[in-house]
Amino acid sequence: MRRGARRWAVVPAAGRGERFGGSRPKQYVPLLGRPVLSWSLAALLAEPSISGVVVALAPGDRRFTRLPEARDPRVRRCAGGARRELSVANALAALEGEARDHDWVLVHDAARPCLHRDDLRALLDEVGDDAVGGLLALPLSDTLKAADARGSSARTLPREGLWRALTPQMIRYGVLRRALALSIERERAVTDEAAAVEALGMRPRLVAGRADNIKVTLPGDRALAAAILAARSKGSAHRPRLRRPRV
Ligand code: CTP
Ligand code: MG
Repeated sequence: MRRGARRWAVVPAAGRGERFGGSRPKQYVPLLGRPVLSWSLAALLAEPSISGVVVALAPGDRRFTRLPEARDPRVRRCAGGARRELSVANALAALEGEARDHDWVLVHDAARPCLHRDDLRALLDEVGDDAVGGLLALPLSDTLKAADARGSSARTLPREGLWRALTPQMIRYGVLRRALALSIERERAVTDEAAAVEALGMRPRLVAGRADNIKVTLPGDRALAAAILAARSKGSAHRPRLRRPRV
């Protein structure tokens, strides 16, 4: 008999953070005293239904072992690749023999430390038993402009039906392995898992997520991410405590 689908997470963390700059890759930049990657992993590890987390690391990465999450029994590591999709493909290969085709893989950027547990729950619930999977995404709210060669606004584009893709992206293991293998073989540039899956003619579901699930990309994003996390911890500190009944 077919057992229920297990859930795995894959965290590509082998990037160099060139747009962010600085002396260390952005996934190791501290936010409120904890590296970005530590927040991203903790958000996934807080979900007990995730069986294991594979983190793809750059060659020679010596920082990862210092994270408390590196000692979590559910966390394992693999070598990253030269592009994000190669890092994810390596992590999927590391699950071979253990993950079944119908299992779920949640791919989450190391550089997204503000994943909220409500978003993770919404993704798991809304994707449910879908044959393919789904991703957190955000409907566009700003007006879109097309620039001309001089950088002036030439046209206004319709934004209806347009979404920004976030992570996690939750795809069946077998589908994602096939999709990435094909994209890599055809040298098709894919910036997220959904793009590779779409190329197979499949349609992952769009699950509306929170706008504060930002990707730390540019130097200014650090202060923003820290403010989001600080506001959350303040919010939970101010939540009224339930009084224990006296016995
Ligand atoms: N990533 C990866 N392997 C790569 C490139 C990227 O695992 N060869 C990971 C990054 O570590 C990051 C995620 O993919 O967590 C999203 O990529 P991005 O934001 O582009 O990060 P970087 O590639 O590190 O940044 P940049 O493009 O500015 O160099
Ligand atoms: Mg990149």
